[in-house]
Amino acid sequence: MPFIQHLVDMKLEQLALEQIVPALLDRGYYYVDSFLGDRVGRTVLDQVKQMHCDGLLNDGQLAGRGSGVSKRHIRGDKIAWVSGTERGAEAINFLLKLIDKLISLCIGRLGKNVIRERSKAMVACYPGNGAGYVKHVDNPNGDGRCVTCIYYLNKNWNAMEHGGVLRIFPEGKSYVADIEPLFDRLLLFWSDRRNPHEVQPSFATRYAITVWYFDSEERAEAKRRFKDSIASSQGGTTS
Ligand code: OGA
Ligand code: OGA
Ligand code: MN
Repeated sequence: MPFIQHLVDMKLEQLALEQIVPALLDRGYYYVDSFLGDRVGRTVLDQVKQMHCDGLLNDGQLAGRGSGVSKRHIRGDKIAWVSGTERGAEAINFLLKLIDKLISLCIGRLGKNVIRERSKAMVACYPGNGAGYVKHVDNPNGDGRCVTCIYYLNKNWNAMEHGGVLRIFPEGKSYVADIEPLFDRLLLFWSDRRNPHEVQPSFATRYAITVWYFDSEERAEAKRRFKDSIASSQGGTTS
């Protein structure tokens, strides 16, 4: 359906150029509602629920920490990393491709950042036992992550009752931004210290899919540092 594809592309380009780029440059975050539409969004939700049912979601880890120690008081979500090529992840893959396209349309207009790759997708579930994720910065120390994109999957979410709000504390600003994890909502924000954020305690099952886009230069530098640190911890040289 080349004609429809063309319309989708035009709509994505408009969204990127007229809304996402200006909002990221100005406020540092932006969200879009009804990103996939009800039918496709529902299919993504069904695939995530199936993964949950199949026991594929495990306790979230913190970057740089060993496994085994419970961090549930810091982050209480259960997660899985998905590339999109897995069986039963076709709709998730469709979502990822669409976000990729959206980001590719923003590149070159987001300042000096060059974005060529991203993480796998993190499928996350807060089980609704009051767990959240304490205030943090996704990339406080230059690990390469540049833009965080979160796609929310929660139908009939009522923040008064279910909590689970994502609160952003924009750096140097006196206001906060409260973002409800509503079905078919796509949120984008800078991953660095500009956007400390928390997930408030969640009292219903809360699903989201997150991807991080990398700044090529920062990512390469972070990989070099990582290799060097391994080499020196093994007593080797770094040349
Ligand atoms: C939108 C949007 C993607 C599409 O809802 O604003 O761009 O399917 N959706 O065109
Ligand atoms: C994270 C995170 C926010 C959310 O996983 O780093 O901040 O709304 N998630 O799920
Ligand atoms: Mn985060």
